[in-house]
Amino acid sequence: MAIELEKLLRPVDNPVPLFPAKFVTLANGEEMVIRQITREEIPALLPHVAKLIQVERDYYDIVSARLYAELLGYYRYRVQDEYVLVAQINGHLAAIVNGRCLNPQVGVSYHTLALRRGLRIGAHAFAAKMEYHIDIMKQKEVLVVAESPIGFRRWMIEYQLEKRFEVAHELGGVPSYALTKKLFDRARSSLVVGRRPVPEKLLEKACEAILPPTDPPKPPFDLLAATRAMYDSTGTALRASRDQLEGGEK
Ligand SMILES: CC(C)(COP(=O)(O)OP(=O)(O)OC[C@H]1O[C@@H](n2cnc3c(N)ncnc32)[C@H](O)[C@@H]1OP(=O)(O)O)[C@@H](O)C(=O)NCCC(=O)NCCS
Repeated sequence: MAIELEKLLRPVDNPVPLFPAKFVTLANGEEMVIRQITREEIPALLPHVAKLIQVERDYYDIVSARLYAELLGYYRYRVQDEYVLVAQINGHLAAIVNGRCLNPQVGVSYHTLALRRGLRIGAHAFAAKMEYHIDIMKQKEVLVVAESPIGFRRWMIEYQLEKRFEVAHELGGVPSYALTKKLFDRARSSLVVGRRPVPEKLLEKACEAILPPTDPPKPPFDLLAATRAMYDSTGTALRASRDQLEGGEK
């Protein structure tokens, strides 16, 4: 009975080609591998995404909360036709991007999360995701939204995305923008970088394990508590109430 019910709950994915891994040389000279991961690798991402739910800066909180749910949806077979790509530097997680196929012509971009800042890692990962939809899955367009001003600058402005405001995006029900094949072709020479095939050793290192991000965004330091001495009653009370609110240790 349970197995029969699970068959009804579990959508069946349509076959699509896999994203061929690529590598990008970052502005600081480091090599970053972007590759598609399997369901079995999802648990390796979850703790790193969960930690960012506490980071309000640059909307990491809402993006991480939603991405966490999407990753679980994929892992537990509760979403149809989703894929997840990761960017890794020397094995360490640097970005996560995901999306899904709405139909053979139209793709849906879900999220882009950079776990290391300042190197356009998120921008490169987003470009790889668009490449997957337009070049590999041969879709006509991808529906995109942004939840943060940086996201808006990176996608809507840098690619000059077209408005598709009549289409509510799956992500939050907000009006969509679209990246068409024509826009992608125009951006190709400036925004889409990377080479294939990935050198064997580099790919092996990436596939061996998804290591924790080296310098992930962190919640802000509590300046008020920090200005007080460790045993100052006001400072400790403040910290205790904050911890309680956050469900942490007392
Ligand atoms: C949007 C996002 C993916 C872009 O990633 P990215 O291309 O690697 O860019 P960064 O976030 O590192 O940097 C963006 C800008 O902020 C600046 N910046 C902000 N915080 C920084 C930090 N801690 N270190 C260095 N630069 C920082 C950068 O200099 C950069 O400026 P630029 O646009 O003039 O180049 C990333 O900011 C992110 O994950 N944000 C939270 C989630 C989100 O909003 N996702 C998109 C919505 S779907």
